Amino acid sequence: MPDEMLHLPLIHRLLERHKDTPGALLPILHAIQEGCGYIPAAAIAEIAHALNLSQAEVRGVISFYHDFRSTPPARHTLRLCRAESCQSMGAERLAAQLREQLALDDHGTSADGQIALRPVYCLGACACSPALELDGRVHARLTPERLRELVSDCLEDGTC
Ligand code: FES
Repeated sequence: MPDEMLHLPLIHRLLERHKDTPGALLPILHAIQEGCGYIPAAAIAEIAHALNLSQAEVRGVISFYHDFRSTPPARHTLRLCRAESCQSMGAERLAAQLREQLALDDHGTSADGQIALRPVYCLGACACSPALELDGRVHARLTPERLRELVSDCLEDGTC
């Protein structure tokens, strides 16, 4: 059974819970993403059927809102701050280093699902710029060497 089929029992429970509420589509999508980590393709037909919508309508809403993911989240998420203070302290150079080290663009996810890059615009650590957040933990006063080390540790042993 494909992995995403394992989510179907949860999806059916969420549909049963929310399908009769007005404007049910967005709450259902949020609940599925929260429960599954993303919106599995298998959910689309189930949602469309439960809400009497076309699958194209459901897909349209998913693609319209950038917060919805159609693939499982990466194991690690690295959010490099690109706002003014960090920019003035070398964030763009660090972003270029990340792109080169991981062969990803600024919004990329590695093919093995190990790490995802996401820009962020201020982490509240401006006094210690440049900064990033790795799996929810802020690292500040970054240097190119420290950044390379953080990423290598992530990729080598899978922990950060
Ligand atoms: S500008 Fe980067 S933490 Fe505020």
